[in-house]
Amino acid sequence: SIKAFVKLSTITTMLVSSSQVFAAPVEIKFSHVVAENTPKGQMALKFKELVELRLPGEYQVNVFPNSQLFGDNNEVAALLLNDVQFVAPSLSKFERYTKKLQIFDLPFLFSDMEAVNRFQQGESGQKLLGSMKRKGIVGLGYLHNGMKQLSASSPLILPTDASGKKFRIMASDVLAAQFQAIDAIPVKKPFSEVFTLLQTRAIDGQENTWSNIYSKKFYEVQSYITESNHGVLDYMVVTSNTFWKSLPADKRTIIKTALDEAVAYGNEIAAAKVNKDKETIVASKRSEVIQLSPEQRQQWVTSMKPVWSQFEAKIGKNLIQAAEASNK
Ligand code: LMR
Repeated sequence: SIKAFVKLSTITTMLVSSSQVFAAPVEIKFSHVVAENTPKGQMALKFKELVELRLPGEYQVNVFPNSQLFGDNNEVAALLLNDVQFVAPSLSKFERYTKKLQIFDLPFLFSDMEAVNRFQQGESGQKLLGSMKRKGIVGLGYLHNGMKQLSASSPLILPTDASGKKFRIMASDVLAAQFQAIDAIPVKKPFSEVFTLLQTRAIDGQENTWSNIYSKKFYEVQSYITESNHGVLDYMVVTSNTFWKSLPADKRTIIKTALDEAVAYGNEIAAAKVNKDKETIVASKRSEVIQLSPEQRQQWVTSMKPVWSQFEAKIGKNLIQAAEASNK
């Protein structure tokens, strides 16, 4: 009868709408290689918190720290396969996708993090976010970590002290050239292997931020850290064009806002960690922190700066000038 039919269709409607209500949230994976007590680790967790607060039941963000899910060798490839939706590799790790970002690896280019920030937020920096578009990679923003220091099993005071020593570097030809410029031997290795390489003395040293040296305990297996501030280690938060386009426009806006806020939060942590993690290392007495005199530091500048001209053609002279102009 009609009555029975109406009843049945009501039940069907109820079932359909309730199955929508109880549909599993869409999973968004965020993979990274550092510990959780770092600017990137905290930023990813804040992003999870904000997305799940603002899109409850619709999206769930799962964060995988410490190279648990993907490491340096495969995280961007995994992004392009949509096996992970967000990664934030260091700017040094994109050279397979663009040569433009090599600018960030030029030694002694930026005088401090304020200069780095001015460059990133300026016209050239913002344009670089789109530099991997043709590869299907969408740059959503920059996240700070900080300036790099040199750690080693022997004291590094003058560039000649590094001669013949092996240094782990991120997979960047500019960083390789930087160590070759001081007659050292660069070894490209994923972040997840650094502690063991240092501990077993397979390599003599490495370059990294106070945050990474602290959170991965490199200072426990390196007797000396030279406060060189010779380069920057920052990140680009990226997603794939495939994933980004697949999001409904209104959800994409909410997710992007959550990300921007999480990045701002991560940047505050980065700024605080410079001193905090450095002081913890100094207080531990596991490692001696070496300060360079202006004359000593100048010798590092003189030895490493020829790297700029080696890469000028690939990076672009105008871009280098724009970066220099951010050192007010
Ligand atoms: C490194 O490989 O040393 C860093 O890029 C790790 C990181 O993500 O901070």
